Amino acid sequence: MPKALPLRLGVNVDHVATLRNARGGARPDPVRAALTAIEAGADGITAHLREDRRHIRDTDMARLKAEISKPLNFEMAATEDMLRISLATRPHAVCLVPERREELTTEGGLDVVGQHNALAPFIARMNDAGIRVSLFIAADPAQIEMAARLRAPVIEIHTGGWCDAVVDGHAAKAEAEWKRIVAGARLARAAGLEVHAGHGLDYDTAETIAALPELAELNIGYFMMGEALFVGLGETVRSMRAAMDRGRQRSVAPT
Ligand code: PXP
Repeated sequence: MPKALPLRLGVNVDHVATLRNARGGARPDPVRAALTAIEAGADGITAHLREDRRHIRDTDMARLKAEISKPLNFEMAATEDMLRISLATRPHAVCLVPERREELTTEGGLDVVGQHNALAPFIARMNDAGIRVSLFIAADPAQIEMAARLRAPVIEIHTGGWCDAVVDGHAAKAEAEWKRIVAGARLARAAGLEVHAGHGLDYDTAETIAALPELAELNIGYFMMGEALFVGLGETVRSMRAAMDRGRQRSVAPT
């Protein structure tokens, strides 16, 4: 079994902005959420600047960069407009995601195989600027191999299909998705990629996936913000950290 990398927790604060925007004012403030999450043990903050600005806005991204002490992971579509904004913001990392206006959330992985011609110069510009690029993709061997060929240093495996199947009790689908994730994480590490995972994770699925030694980071938002309504964000971050640590212990335990 490979030695486990330390597993970072990235907290996505998009939906604090969703709640704020419902009334059009300044509260709740996603930057305050980011600071609270960091104080409670988050290793980084993720925010997605969508084309329609439905939650995070340009000013939020600039404030996050200026005010937080941990790495900022700037999620965005691979457009010229976003490239300009991200180069001006200079986050620690950029995660490229597919984006469709009508979707409720990021529904699938980026098609790096189909879009490799457009993505290659984009990734090169990020690499030149010293911003770590992560490609949000399905755990599909062709996508993973193309991500490595495009010289992206990081991939983030889309866990949404697996998490939905677990929560909905579709055991066969959950098992098939899980096997795909395990194989994808191994393949990606063997290709020299840093491997992250995210989308739809809760305490249980985060604990399960934390046992994969190839993973270096989980990015989690929606579930945590929902939990925070009941127990507070600090408590939620601490509980998530504990779940990840329990899972991680299994990855290095002798078999
Ligand atoms: N990672 C990526 C690339 C995402 O697009 C999202 C959703 O914004 C997440 C992680 C977090 O997903 P969730 O909010 O379901 O935890």
